[in-house]
Amino acid sequence: MNHQHAVIFDDVSETPKTKLNVEGELPAWLSGDLIRNGPGLFNFSGVKLNHWFDGMAVIHKFSFGENQVYYQSKFLQSRAYISAIREHKIVSSEFATSPKQSFIRHIYDILKGVLTDNNNVNIVKFGKYYLTMTETDNHVLVDPETLSIVRPHTYDDKIKFIINLAHPIIEEGGNLFYNLGIKFGSTSRYILYRTNVSTNNREVIAKIPTKRPSYMHTFAKTENFFILYENPLKVNPLKMLFSDKPFIKNYIWGDDPVNFIIVDKAGKIIRQFTHEQFFCFHMVNAYEYASKIYLDLIVYPNADIIKAFYLEPRVNLEDKNLVPLLRRFVLNLSDGSCSSYKPDVPGIEFPYINGAYAQKLYNFIYAVSSRNNDFSLNTLIKINLSDLNANRLWQQDDCFPGEPVFVAKPDATMEDEGVIISVIADLKNKLSFLLILDAESFNEITRINLPHLLPIGLHGSFYSDVIPANTRVWKAGI
Ligand code: CO
Repeated sequence: MNHQHAVIFDDVSETPKTKLNVEGELPAWLSGDLIRNGPGLFNFSGVKLNHWFDGMAVIHKFSFGENQVYYQSKFLQSRAYISAIREHKIVSSEFATSPKQSFIRHIYDILKGVLTDNNNVNIVKFGKYYLTMTETDNHVLVDPETLSIVRPHTYDDKIKFIINLAHPIIEEGGNLFYNLGIKFGSTSRYILYRTNVSTNNREVIAKIPTKRPSYMHTFAKTENFFILYENPLKVNPLKMLFSDKPFIKNYIWGDDPVNFIIVDKAGKIIRQFTHEQFFCFHMVNAYEYASKIYLDLIVYPNADIIKAFYLEPRVNLEDKNLVPLLRRFVLNLSDGSCSSYKPDVPGIEFPYINGAYAQKLYNFIYAVSSRNNDFSLNTLIKINLSDLNANRLWQQDDCFPGEPVFVAKPDATMEDEGVIISVIADLKNKLSFLLILDAESFNEITRINLPHLLPIGLHGSFYSDVIPANTRVWKAGI
């Protein structure tokens, strides 16, 4: 197990609201809450989870204001978590771990969509609550103060998905949500929908039939178009019904190229583009310019990256196919051509941008990167797309950064005016700390120690007390 593995599989304990010791000077304007989600419990009596994405969700909240920071964390009290703790068993299929259950029960669960509510991928503000998400249609609302579950986020409509992505695209100051559901059947469907925080209904924008749905973690949107990227990792829904394999093991990497599906706001497919194979979790940004769509994705040559995140990796971690690469796709809506190129930057994952620049021409990407351009993500990077020589790095021995969250200064006029906040796992000192960087210079402003070492987790967002929630492109944070 390499160091990165040690830190992602670390079990964390819950922390009641605790005042942290701030030694340096935080920007006076930095006031609000950083909320983060991620797998934080892998080992408990009677249950063995197989994969990073199976870990039980733990929510972290950091409250900033008046040069003070409070921290609290709580396990999401999901059905999955409570069964694991009380009954020492998992009750529904996690990403890569199956429950022990009868064949009939398995079919019933899939047909009824009784899939996991262990929402360990993302958390965003939804009205007065936080919405926790994984890739099933069991999104759950939690109380922003106690982090306890308020209720499952059910809708009055009759739409039922098997998959519902954990990376909605959020607009209108956090009120309008676009997302993609996937229905399985003899003909399966990708269903693009929109909803907002004041209704309990989803308005379907497009239903796109497919024989074999692709595994999708994100989708993209520009001002006028939605972009779906079907990668070659696909599932045969009927086979899945009769299989006792864990969820992701039903997906097979095939020979198909990637298919980009461009849908307009009325739900009409206006073009499809094919591209040589790649696998992608995360979109960085997408925008339109001169009848072209510019789409920045983080891609891998194949889906082996999923095998790398098993507790016991099922692929050689030195394999270059595990290096995540920034790639810009240019989709020409006039002549139907599709090209792509790779900016000359080291591998990056967990990208973050200034949300005010989502769906627009933009210049800066903040991400976790690799010092040796390998699988280990041990550096923070600021990429300057118009001048790659002006990229900036932050790194420290034995330190593994989590997703760098950009927080804009309230009166900012420049794209990189603000701070970056990242939770860093310092394996040498067996402690995590909050690192605050000036986003423009990438210089350290201060660091604040946490009570213990935290696994690096997945995704989060910052909600300012002084400016409205911005329009992050694929998350309020990814
Ligand atoms: Co993600």
